[in-house]
Amino acid sequence: MGSNKDIELIKDGKRIDGRDFDELREIKIKAGVLKRADGSAYLEWGKNKVMAAVYGPREMHPRHAQETTKAVVRARYNMAAFSVPDRKRPGPDRRSIEISKLISEALEKVVFTEKYPRSVIDVFVEVLQASAGTRCCGLTAASVALADAGIPMSDLVASCASGKIEGQVVLDLGKNEDNYGQADLPIGYIPRSDELCLLQMDGNLSEDEYEEAMDMSIEACKEIYEIQKEALREKYSTELQAEKLNEEEM
Ligand code: CDP
Repeated sequence: MGSNKDIELIKDGKRIDGRDFDELREIKIKAGVLKRADGSAYLEWGKNKVMAAVYGPREMHPRHAQETTKAVVRARYNMAAFSVPDRKRPGPDRRSIEISKLISEALEKVVFTEKYPRSVIDVFVEVLQASAGTRCCGLTAASVALADAGIPMSDLVASCASGKIEGQVVLDLGKNEDNYGQADLPIGYIPRSDELCLLQMDGNLSEDEYEEAMDMSIEACKEIYEIQKEALREKYSTELQAEKLNEEEM
């Protein structure tokens, strides 16, 4: 986040990538793409490409990290070395530890963790290509992967950011908008209960701008929620069809 007067982010009432102020980048999600994971999802969101894989519930090791009354949701967010223009040094850094923590905490709000005491549910988020908003991509993909793993949940989490560029509140910041904009406000939203499970803010917004950004993001999360559900429907209808064909062959 930083202002740079030389970079033009809005022209003729549109953003530099041609989007309207309240328009999302294109989002595609495919559920169940990894054979050896209990659940998985691959997501493309604008130029972002993110894979989420879920393993568990399984016994938590090390044992001292076990919770006696519930499962621990342990997310690990990782950026591939080749995911950004400057090679990303492999391994955890402050930023990825922060994002892992917020994804874990957001997902804990929807998983019925009390069903699996002493267990861990591992959620791996691998960013293959990054172009702003990867925490939202990670959280959105991870919740589809959890549902794909058949883990009991109260709902999916949809995630999206709004922000401010050249004094204008806009939805879903792209890379330049993120770099040269004035604010970024990512949220995680639980549609069924109309609750937030993630809220961060970078930069400054007035109260009115905050309200506007929040309204935009919540509307967008409802759209994303439909894409998430469609990905799961698609996976299971294909699986059912395959099973039916197998039965017919027998
Ligand atoms: O990705 P997100 O917006 O959730 O987090 P951020 O910390 O605000 O990062 C914004 C963007 O900066 C990322 O999406 C990447 O495109 C880029 N970035 C990068 O180029 N190199 C890094 N080591 C980290 C982030």
